[in-house]
Amino acid sequence: MENRFYDLYLEYFHKAEATRRWNLMNDIPWDKAKKDVPDYIPYIVESFAAVELYLPDYTSQIIEMVRRSRGRAWFQANWGYEESKHSMALEEWLLRSGHRTREENMEFADRVLSNKWILGFKTPRHMMIYTMFQELATGLNYKKLRERALEAGDEALGTALSFLTKDESAHHAFFRNGTKIFMDEDRDGTLCDLAEVLANFEMPAHEIIPDWESRGQRIVAEKIFSDRIFLRHVVRPILKNLDVTRDELKELSKSSKQIDADAEDPYAETMAVAG
Ligand SMILES: [Fe+2]
Ligand SMILES: [Fe+2]
Repeated sequence: MENRFYDLYLEYFHKAEATRRWNLMNDIPWDKAKKDVPDYIPYIVESFAAVELYLPDYTSQIIEMVRRSRGRAWFQANWGYEESKHSMALEEWLLRSGHRTREENMEFADRVLSNKWILGFKTPRHMMIYTMFQELATGLNYKKLRERALEAGDEALGTALSFLTKDESAHHAFFRNGTKIFMDEDRDGTLCDLAEVLANFEMPAHEIIPDWESRGQRIVAEKIFSDRIFLRHVVRPILKNLDVTRDELKELSKSSKQIDADAEDPYAETMAVAG
């Protein structure tokens, strides 16, 4: 299994080096960043930057969990490098477009980091599955926001978000392929974990980001993301790609005492859409 994870990482890394690297200063037309865009755009950009800012918590806790797995630990280090550019790109746009000053960006980052994000799941397999869903969802958030940025004529933000979207898509593919390695080893056990992840799924750090309630409402109101989008465009395609049927997942989840203890059918809605 570890050999397969390492091969997966090597494939990921070499492809990233050959085809996906981008330069924060040179590859984004920052002179095209616009002040005159709908006011929800900078607000949502700042909100997404906040999620990316918990990088030290994501990387430190996940690397600690998988440190003996070279494929997964080295991947997390590389992932951390790529994710670090995401918050930097979003903050750079806020600055270049004139929506925030450097001091405001720094003050906000400091406020965000005064809280600490804690891993939502306790095993590497759960985290592999969780991140598979989360990365696809994050990519969709950026894709939708990119469309809005381009509609508003902001090529700088549009270009930055297209780099971020490609990175998130590559991250998702790594975690999805990793989940398949776990499934080859223990399909039922992995799918029980998957059911548990879905039953308890939340996007990272929302509960600790300042004013998330209003930020989240704005994201939904502007149709950037929603539970429905998550079910239709994240959960369903992933289950299809993993070749998992609704019945198989439901059957396994029923036999999981931990989930049954939580509710009658905690992911009935997920299953309804996923089916
Ligand atoms: Fe990211
Ligand atoms: Fe990512």
